[in-house]
Amino acid sequence: MTGTEKKVCFITGGSGRLGSEVAVSLAKNGYTVFFTYNRSKEKSETILDAVRAFTPESAMIHCDVSKVNDIENAFRTFTGLFNRLDLLIPSASGFFSTSLPDVTEPEWESLVDTNLKGTFFTMQEGARIMQKQPFVSRIITMTDISANLVWKGFAPYTASKAAVQHLTKVFAKVFAPNILVNSIAPGTVTINPEWNDGPEDELSKNIPLQRTGQPADIIEAILFLVKSDYVTGQVINVEGGRLLN
Ligand SMILES: NC(=O)c1ccc[n+]([C@@H]2O[C@H](COP(=O)([O-])OP(=O)(O)OC[C@H]3O[C@@H](n4cnc5c(N)ncnc54)[C@H](OP(=O)(O)O)[C@@H]3O)[C@@H](O)[C@H]2O)c1
Repeated sequence: MTGTEKKVCFITGGSGRLGSEVAVSLAKNGYTVFFTYNRSKEKSETILDAVRAFTPESAMIHCDVSKVNDIENAFRTFTGLFNRLDLLIPSASGFFSTSLPDVTEPEWESLVDTNLKGTFFTMQEGARIMQKQPFVSRIITMTDISANLVWKGFAPYTASKAAVQHLTKVFAKVFAPNILVNSIAPGTVTINPEWNDGPEDELSKNIPLQRTGQPADIIEAILFLVKSDYVTGQVINVEGGRLLN
């Protein structure tokens, strides 16, 4: 195994609205992509076709990241197919509102097991492979600017994303210098009808750069991190200045 073969990326939540755009863009940039989906099998077949148009050896697998067995199984399949891991993007995530003081245990478990536990065990499995490789590899977690905001109706979600930002730093320190670990925290990119109570124009009023994000804005940040050799343990907020408010 050397650092000169075709690069391989493992992304969870490749069936997501943003996750799928990231998967296709990485393929366009030469990465062989192995991605996971949970419920969106049909949509994932279409995404796999789009990815394979650039890197035909790319593959996908079902994985419920809230179950450690599923994560281990996905990595077993991955190592059976590919002999290197250059980039891991744990992107799978749940998102729904939860009102205090009525958050239920199933709501908590759904959000925290997917977003925090799932991300942790995905990173751990990925790091086990990466730490043995004779070249620098990278992990990019997907968090959210809400880790730094106080959203009254989303406590389990925002707490899970804040915790992933913390894990990003711990992994960066433990696995330096051969694994660079950073996080991208998007502002609003895809408009979620449950979360956003107004049209895009309304949302843009709170954003100094006067627009919501595009998947391309996030992809640009990912492409920066995969090239950078001197950035680790950082959270890059890609949010048009929203946190300046
Ligand atoms: N899009 C935005 O505006 C935005 C803003 C801030 C942060 N982010 C973050 O950016 C990342 C990508 O966002 P996105 O737009 O792609 O999200 P999305 O459209 O909501 O998709 C969520 C993804 O996570 C997967 N998923 C959910 N629960 C899962 C579970 N238990 N096991 C495995 N996979 C599971 C879904 O798989 P299935 O569909 O196959 O079930 C889907 O691929 C996420 O981490 C998100 O929190 C996005």
